[in-house]
Amino acid sequence: MNKNVIAIDGHASTGKSTLAKRLAKRLGCLYMDTGYMFRVLAYLGLKGRYITQDSLDGTALMKEVGGLHFSWTETPKGLAMAFDGKVYGDEIRTEEVSSKVSQVAALKSIRDFLLQQQRALAQDHKVIMDGRDIGTVVFPEAQFKFFMTADAEIRAERRHQELLTKGMKSDFQTVLNNVIARDQQDASRSIAPLRKAEDAIEINTGHLTVEEVEQLMLQHLQ
Ligand code: DC
Repeated sequence: MNKNVIAIDGHASTGKSTLAKRLAKRLGCLYMDTGYMFRVLAYLGLKGRYITQDSLDGTALMKEVGGLHFSWTETPKGLAMAFDGKVYGDEIRTEEVSSKVSQVAALKSIRDFLLQQQRALAQDHKVIMDGRDIGTVVFPEAQFKFFMTADAEIRAERRHQELLTKGMKSDFQTVLNNVIARDQQDASRSIAPLRKAEDAIEINTGHLTVEEVEQLMLQHLQ
């Protein structure tokens, strides 16, 4: 059993990252957003034109990023994950990146590459990891595992509001279609699909406040 890892898996926009960040602060752990890692690679793929509207050249993308790595780096907000020394921000949260990232996350070469880095980054730290396959593949021996769900409409509305608050362009229907498509792709891929680990605690966050979900999680952790 690995007592240093708390795994938080589940569907997109169920509040995983908000909860993981709050718990990390409260419990003095590092917060590891594994979706960030996939997003950075999708962003670089789009930038390098290895990913276009209708094609994805995983071999070329791996050639570009395969020699680089993620590392913890000090920032004014605390330790953050940098890739090749750079910490990424809102540029990896656009709908363009969101619409392509599941395809990148379905590639075996990319998953193998990130799996090894996720395990390495968690070594010698207490971490709260948020993702899709943490409790099933990355750290199946984690002591605590949560699996978050909520209706697609509720999740899309959250994401839509989040984008608008950040001053980014957003259309509800596009966001909803994206959320549904992403769920399907994440759950149906052959490698490390999104699914609840048998021993994970499932929480439906749809009609709960952040504080209520946090309390529920703390009760389990205690
Ligand atoms: O959590 P997020 O929306 O930022 O994740 C971005 C994408 O990466 C999402 O489509 C699922 C994928 N992902 C994954 O396959 N495995 C993980 N551990 C984390 C994210």
